[in-house]
Amino acid sequence: MQKDFLSIADWSRDEINDIFDLTADLKAKTKRREKHHILDGYSLAMIFAKPSARTRISFETGIYQLGGMALYLSPQDIGIGTREAVKDVGRVISRYNDIIMARLFAHSDILELAEYSSVPVVNGLTDYNHPCQIMADAFTILEHRGSLDGMKIVYIGDGNNIAHSWINFAGQVPIHLVICSPQNYQPDPKTLKDARDKGLSKIELISDPVAAVTDADVLYTDVWASMGQEEEAEARKKIFMPYQLNMELLSHATSDALIMHCLPAHRGEEITDEAIESKHSIVFDEAENRMHVQKAIMVTLARHLNG
Ligand code: CP
Ligand code: NVA
Repeated sequence: MQKDFLSIADWSRDEINDIFDLTADLKAKTKRREKHHILDGYSLAMIFAKPSARTRISFETGIYQLGGMALYLSPQDIGIGTREAVKDVGRVISRYNDIIMARLFAHSDILELAEYSSVPVVNGLTDYNHPCQIMADAFTILEHRGSLDGMKIVYIGDGNNIAHSWINFAGQVPIHLVICSPQNYQPDPKTLKDARDKGLSKIELISDPVAAVTDADVLYTDVWASMGQEEEAEARKKIFMPYQLNMELLSHATSDALIMHCLPAHRGEEITDEAIESKHSIVFDEAENRMHVQKAIMVTLARHLNG
């Protein structure tokens, strides 16, 4: 098993299922208000080089519910990679805290942080991927549908960090994944090839949105310009508008298709108000499950570290 949670591609199908089982257990305990101080006295350092609502709140609340505490380190606090070398930050924090969660720009920085940290590092999003999000998303689909087998999950939009984590997931767990992105905004070819080479899932790239979503069980989208791409936002709007998740596009999916979005959403851009508010939408279940799945990830990593 891995010391860190950096990419879904590093985790086997059985390990992923174990995390989902533990997530369900911890969620049930939380709902019953049953104390579950599995990480009593643990401390979690949360390094943020980018803004966040869900990731910060769900990790901070989650470790508290497990009997531990969190430190929020804002983009101004540490200056990871600018005020201090990434590897020095990792070695110093490992002397104080039991787990590190980091949201960074370059994926190479989180790899370096994990390499030099003696404690587990959890990826809270990089420019390349967002594994905790897709673990929460898949768990949410499981809750709503009972199984992921044969599910046609269509990601419409930018071939970004969210798309990459979905592709990583499809490498480990069998699904039918369709990525529908405009030309020049498609996901990383090596990520695609590696997942396809695992031979478990059908993974398609389809550029026509209607063809992509036909008979889909899940329609998923994300912002057109990610954090760090703000200056491209206006130009991207024109290119991405045909990929908007709206009620017309939904009409081509299965009649009970689920609508998902990692949030924050830009209503009127990648998704319409009507679509996100419709009975198909499970975006707030997804947001809630970030906390439950991340608690399971932290417990799993801590158990492994303690042998
Ligand atoms: N989905 C997600 O990671 O949200 P935040 O950017 O608010 O943490
Ligand atoms: N692709 C988005 C995801 C936000 C949770 C971003 O990186 O900004």
